Amino acid sequence: MADYPSMEGVGMGRPNDFEAFWMPFTANRAYKGSPRLLARAEGMFYYTPEGREVLDGTAGLWCVNAGHGRREVREAIVRQAGLLDFAPTFQLGHPVVFEAASRLAEFTPPGLDRIFFTNSGSEAADTALKIALAYHRARGEAGRVRLIGRERAYHGVSFGGMSVGGIGNNRKQFTAGLLPFTDHLPHTHAPEHNAFSRGQPEWGAHLADALDSLVALHGAETIAAVIVEPMAGSTGVLIPPKGYLERLRALCDKYGILLIFDEVITGFGRLGAPFAADRFGITPDILTMAKGLTNAAVPMGAVAVKREIYETVLAAAPPGTIELFHGYTYSGHPLAAAAAIAAIGIHQRERLAERARALEAYFEEAVHSLKGLPNVIDIRNLGLVAGIELAPRPGRPTERAVRVFHRCFDAGLLIRTTGDIIALSPPLIVERAHIDRMIEILSAAIRAEAD
Ligand SMILES: Cc1ncc(COP(=O)(O)O)c(C=O)c1O
Repeated sequence: MADYPSMEGVGMGRPNDFEAFWMPFTANRAYKGSPRLLARAEGMFYYTPEGREVLDGTAGLWCVNAGHGRREVREAIVRQAGLLDFAPTFQLGHPVVFEAASRLAEFTPPGLDRIFFTNSGSEAADTALKIALAYHRARGEAGRVRLIGRERAYHGVSFGGMSVGGIGNNRKQFTAGLLPFTDHLPHTHAPEHNAFSRGQPEWGAHLADALDSLVALHGAETIAAVIVEPMAGSTGVLIPPKGYLERLRALCDKYGILLIFDEVITGFGRLGAPFAADRFGITPDILTMAKGLTNAAVPMGAVAVKREIYETVLAAAPPGTIELFHGYTYSGHPLAAAAAIAAIGIHQRERLAERARALEAYFEEAVHSLKGLPNVIDIRNLGLVAGIELAPRPGRPTERAVRVFHRCFDAGLLIRTTGDIIALSPPLIVERAHIDRMIEILSAAIRAEAD
């Protein structure tokens, strides 16, 4: 590897070696055999330690929605670190966490204005599931213990999120720890009906009716909540079919089941509206978020709940006692809260969601121009997210996409792959010229892996 520029500060020097860090969701042996590093970032670009520019086609990990190195966020963190490094939020508080919650409650879809802070999307998913259980118990329906997820869903890696999640590889190693009382709706991936759809696919609204079957099987009185990603991201960008979420909402209402939207990826402008709930005009009872909340500069997640849920849980506890036995040491950490306030401010001032919506048509044309390239079997898009599905190499699933990923990186573009699906989700500050560049590099990489 080339020499690092000499930079002061922890983590800016040459790594001693690559062994100590057990890397998450990584083929550690393959990576450590030929490591690729990102040392710096600004705007739409990462820079390798050698100073090579890499266009960020994935907003980091679907999270740096306002672009890298935002001054407002950085300054808010530094200011806050000088003022108050930490204060507990158990039976105490600090001004910035209350401000962050109020600002966020103005930004979330109307009605979802009570905020519980976590440190990640995984914690937000578990928190949402626990709130759903606590709510039903508070209403005198403690028998509602079942949690319904969906095949191919990703709700993080905690035992709760994993159990309602539906990605086989994420569950198999830990089968012994899966929660009881869960079940799953069918996924909505149907390329045989919907391949190369632009925006929401036409076919598949009826897949939501599987909730009827689960109710018939288990009894509505045993079901607490349904949790879905309004647009399933991590599994490879599955856009909800037209009418699907509407039907899910109607069925949840019919059976008294809470509807949870996991908006960890779709929140903060990704689909051309502040939240997917805004884009689709459907309000869940509980909404989880993370990633874009602080523009990823400090870890933070949050759960927004309808006021009625909050008030019901509070009212069920005797006055003066703790109402929800749940929380994290760092729930509403001052640095994260300060970063969130700054990030929300950027979204509001720069109208990033509207910007994404305005660019959607251009982005859509660009990604669909990849149709016809070797092995491209589906392309789907909404807002500033797209999935490009490749035919796997016979007997060697994922290999083709991984090689495309490496080719893109080496040519100066960061993409994301799951299985043989490529995901693009650039920061919302992306310009048309960046989109053109992404398509140029990606198209060359796909062609180069044609065999
Ligand atoms: C929809 C969804 N939920 C939850 C998570 C987990 O978030 P985290 O990695 O911050 O725990 C993710 C992460 O990608 C996600 O996409």
